[in-house]
Amino acid sequence: MPPFTSYSQLYRGAVETLTQAGIANARHEALWILEDALGIPRLQLYANPGMPVDAEVCQRAVALFQRRALHEPLQYVIGTQDFFGLDFFVQPGVLIPRPETELLVEEAIGLLGADARPVILDIGTGSGCLAISLAVNLPGAVIIASDKSVSALHLARVNAMRHGVAQRILWVAGDLLSHLLSGNLAGKVTAIIANLPYISHAEWEHLSPDVKDFEPRLALDGGPDGLDVYRRLLDESPGLVSSKGFILMEVGVGQADLLCREPSLTNAFKVVKIRPDSQGIPRVVCVQRRLV
Ligand SMILES: C[S@@+](CC[C@H](N)C(=O)[O-])C[C@H]1O[C@@H](n2cnc3c(N)ncnc32)[C@H](O)[C@@H]1O
Repeated sequence: MPPFTSYSQLYRGAVETLTQAGIANARHEALWILEDALGIPRLQLYANPGMPVDAEVCQRAVALFQRRALHEPLQYVIGTQDFFGLDFFVQPGVLIPRPETELLVEEAIGLLGADARPVILDIGTGSGCLAISLAVNLPGAVIIASDKSVSALHLARVNAMRHGVAQRILWVAGDLLSHLLSGNLAGKVTAIIANLPYISHAEWEHLSPDVKDFEPRLALDGGPDGLDVYRRLLDESPGLVSSKGFILMEVGVGQADLLCREPSLTNAFKVVKIRPDSQGIPRVVCVQRRLV
């Protein structure tokens, strides 16, 4: 892209670059990126199309457009994503929060809202979007957030500081629940909230390049049928979840029924709800610990 001297030139150049790269929503995305690079709201940009752009800002904006033209997700390019009404920092190496995952928060608030001091475990916290939304909306909750990825935990903590709840969340690195089973949490967890990897190997082949080439495989790959990580979670959970406590899990297309028939689920838990998303896909599976 050549150097541009005004905002409107920069905008036109960006739309052309993004359109040529096959970005569907080129005009809209060009504006998002410009707002971010210039640090100016779009209304101000609309009002002053001839506004001069200095060389350094122009270079920064062009670098962002070029990243997007290579199909890096827009959220990584601008560095943020909204989730449950809160703004989260996102960065390569950590999954971008998805709108359907907000259903997990709604269900958790519905189940735990009346509990004065629920103990909530967010397994696979990623950007921290679940743990942080729950901390903000359930002020009495004790929250533990865990992930195998240390860079995800670092980003989650930064997001928690941004929303003033970092001190209310205990951050732990580890593989699923193994590192928590020997502590004093045994039998005390009111609810496990999990959006663990659930992409099957067949689906992996059809993921868009924006996802497959840029988002972390650790956050997505759930094994041959997508349920390997959830099977392990269900095997390890009975020792932690309290009598009548819950596990809330996000799943993909066609997986809710399969998961509900898993022996590791039926032996210790009963299904209390399956919540569809806005497209009618059964998305959230809520199970309750049988009396022990
Ligand atoms: C689908 S992402 C969800 C991230 C975030 N909770 C959200 O909803 O946006 C799954 C997360 O689980 C983590 N993860 C994958 N396997 C794990 C394991 N065995 N133990 C702990 N965390 C794991 C990944 O690092 C990733 O952050």
